[in-house]
Amino acid sequence: MNVLLIGSGAREHAIARAVKKSKIESKLFCIASNYNPGIAALVADLTIGNINAPDSVVKFAEKHSIDLAIIGPEAPLANGVADALRKLAIGCVGPTKALAQLETSKGFTRNLMKKYKIAGCPIYQNYSKLDGVAEFLNELGDNYVVKFDGLMGGKGVKVAGEHLNSHKDSLAYCEEIVADGGRFVIEEKLIGEEFSLMSFCDGERLIHMPPVQDHKRAYENDTGPNTGGMGSYNDKQQSLPFLNDNDIHSAKLTNEAIALALKKEFGTGYQGIIYGGFIATADGVKVIEYNARFGDPEAMNVLALLESDFLELCVALVNGELSEYSIKFNSKATVCKYAVPNGYPDAPLKGENIGISKINNPDQLYYASVDVIDGQLIEAGSRTVAVVGVADSLAQAEALAEQAISRIEGPLFHRSDIGTAKLIQKRIDNMNNLRGHS
Ligand code: AMP
Ligand code: GLY
Repeated sequence: MNVLLIGSGAREHAIARAVKKSKIESKLFCIASNYNPGIAALVADLTIGNINAPDSVVKFAEKHSIDLAIIGPEAPLANGVADALRKLAIGCVGPTKALAQLETSKGFTRNLMKKYKIAGCPIYQNYSKLDGVAEFLNELGDNYVVKFDGLMGGKGVKVAGEHLNSHKDSLAYCEEIVADGGRFVIEEKLIGEEFSLMSFCDGERLIHMPPVQDHKRAYENDTGPNTGGMGSYNDKQQSLPFLNDNDIHSAKLTNEAIALALKKEFGTGYQGIIYGGFIATADGVKVIEYNARFGDPEAMNVLALLESDFLELCVALVNGELSEYSIKFNSKATVCKYAVPNGYPDAPLKGENIGISKINNPDQLYYASVDVIDGQLIEAGSRTVAVVGVADSLAQAEALAEQAISRIEGPLFHRSDIGTAKLIQKRIDNMNNLRGHS
């Protein structure tokens, strides 16, 4: 089987490893936006190309007689790459452009939740003009969030009390969006602990993955600017220390309700990964956002735990046969940490040498935004490399990740607090306080 991987970050490195572990004999090809030496070592051909242009992806797929494609990032989905591949009868792990609106339009997803009465939707309004904005802000008082309605890597979201300090500031941000011809959503600010729950979806049936918690803020103790995600963890037995079984169950039901609503809305089912970004609040589990792909870094956690054959699973997914599939995840804990360039995310260093020769176990390492020039590994300006620790306890998994990441040489930093007992206790205490018990 000829398999196409689209994308070249750490998430895609994890996907490539999972494909190559399969007992199905396959040849893997990758169309990439940067040279990822980890992926390059696993594939028959890695070509740097425009992963967001359906024509160039189709050409590459035709050249290699691709049977199945796995789309890593959101931008190719937003640009209709899955539509173009499906036209060639290539099965795609990744939805069509219309179904990917689940991620590409926050307003679309809120309307979908409202129309199909899906639990967990905050109070919200969609706007393309300023009419009614001031009144809605008054109604929400100090608890509101303004979201640019489009792909902005999380950077279009401004939260009252964090990025917006008055209705005047907020109106100015809305005005900026309108002046650029954009749309935006204003919604109730939710208070609680965030987590991600991803599901494989074959159009009808879902298979859920373990819940994971990402860390969006750049610096220790959840301070500093928002990033793509500095690291993530899950606890043993497919749990998180601050969630109860009901929370996880309601997140799964919400993903199922979303898949059903999409099928009703479009007539065709969603094939790919449904990523629910949830928040556990005093009032139950609510939806922060949806993504139409694996999370990065969350993919490193869940794929490190996956015991089933990933490629078999992808084949079942594109054939609409997930109901026949029984999935198995290891019950260990995992901790993933990213090393990022000094200055990330606002003014990241680029082009500096980094060294990974001191890492004992290369299987723990995932390459992300790197390049290789004259045999030297360099940082390419975004999240650089990720490491994962897998162990019987969170404390051990954290220690393994920390040991590995501290051996990486170069002008990089990481969050040493991710997965530590202290930060996890803070999450538990926060949730207990919100739920009114200690
Ligand atoms: P998003 O791109 O929608 O995931 O938003 C980025 C980040 O903004 C989320 O990870 C949350 O931390 C925060 N955020 C988004 N929506 C809300 C909300 N309704 N209430 C509180 N925080 C939010
Ligand atoms: N971990 C956040 C994301 O993948 O969007």
